Amino acid sequence: LPTTVTDALGRPMGSLRVSVTDRCNLRCRYCMPEEEYAWLSSTDILSFDELTTVASAFTELGVDKIRLTGGEPLLRPGLDELIGKLATDERITDIALTTNGILLSGKASGLREAGLGRVTVSLDTLDAARFRELSRRGTHDAALAGIATAAEVFGSLKIDTVVMRGFNDDELVDLIEYGKTVSAEVRFIEYMDVGGATGWTEQQVYSRARIIEDLTAHYGHVTPLAKHDTAPADQFALPDGTVFGIISSTTQPFCGACDRSRLTADGMWLRCLYARTGTDLRGPLRRGADRDELAALIADIWRRRRDQGAVHRLDDDSRTVFVGLENLKRDPHLEMHTRGG
Ligand code: GTP
Ligand code: 5AD
Ligand code: SF4
Repeated sequence: LPTTVTDALGRPMGSLRVSVTDRCNLRCRYCMPEEEYAWLSSTDILSFDELTTVASAFTELGVDKIRLTGGEPLLRPGLDELIGKLATDERITDIALTTNGILLSGKASGLREAGLGRVTVSLDTLDAARFRELSRRGTHDAALAGIATAAEVFGSLKIDTVVMRGFNDDELVDLIEYGKTVSAEVRFIEYMDVGGATGWTEQQVYSRARIIEDLTAHYGHVTPLAKHDTAPADQFALPDGTVFGIISSTTQPFCGACDRSRLTADGMWLRCLYARTGTDLRGPLRRGADRDELAALIADIWRRRRDQGAVHRLDDDSRTVFVGLENLKRDPHLEMHTRGG
């Protein structure tokens, strides 16, 4: 049986978000600057065997959910092979994927067969021109096709929408209605000042309160549903039973229940989405550390974890999380596209 470790605030380890590549085929404004990056090289990033070893160290300590992220995870060749390897770990009860959907049509059924359980697709707008403006790459049709295929292959999915005032805050109802046609639970995410969101301003945040207000005005009544796990999204139901979610990282952080941590593609372990430093697990791994040694190292650090990045950023004096372009250039690990959202 896994040993369960809890951090300094009593939070167990539940979910590990694994970034499998820092590359992306889009350049969403809230995530990455436009200019080209010095991408990680193939020797920088963890191999599937290395990833499997690291994952098993985490499952030793109580992790039972793995979410594959990026960059865009579907750009990593052979992702189905990694999923197959992870799926052999009996302690993992949930393998999920967060993708922009562009490459999903051709891959969804292979991923499912390999053991992928669920898919979340990021989609911020139903308007092709807006999609191009936001993502700086024009493949809205491909994203929609990916969503349609995911709905067929997995039966249902989640759609994640970052709501930005003055950009897509007029699409909330349309997105929910679209979600119904593809069996998707739509989740509205408050815009966060983290990583490559170099254009973030408070004025662009469209708050949870506003979202509820708008949807109530349109649908009549919005019922909050009881929270069932540590997931960041709060769920709500419309009068016709349709469920949607709001992830209010900016105005109502949920750090108190945070059981997640993140692994970058090159093996940097981050204990918080807002973390500015992490622990290099690749070094010990490549020097020969086995699963148990890694687990001991991870447990030792988790026991001391006090991170509450989203709570701390609410305190004006400590709003240091928005790291700025210069720092991002110095350390790409600060970028959202390396830490997986
Ligand atoms: P499930 O509930 O298991 O489906 O997954 P999830 O909600 O954890 O996953 P998803 O990757 O869809 O997360 C949605 C978004 O929530 C992310 O893209 C982030 O914007 C935000 N988010 C996820 N985890 C955290 C977190 O630990 N802290 C903060 N502040 N935001 C988070
Ligand atoms: N604010 C909120 N969510 C973000 N994501 C990326 N950057 C931000 C940000 N600045 C989320 C998006 C995307 C996921 C991978 O990460 O939801 O869907
Ligand atoms: Fe967890 Fe950090 Fe997100 Fe808070 S901000 S929920 S501690 S990852």
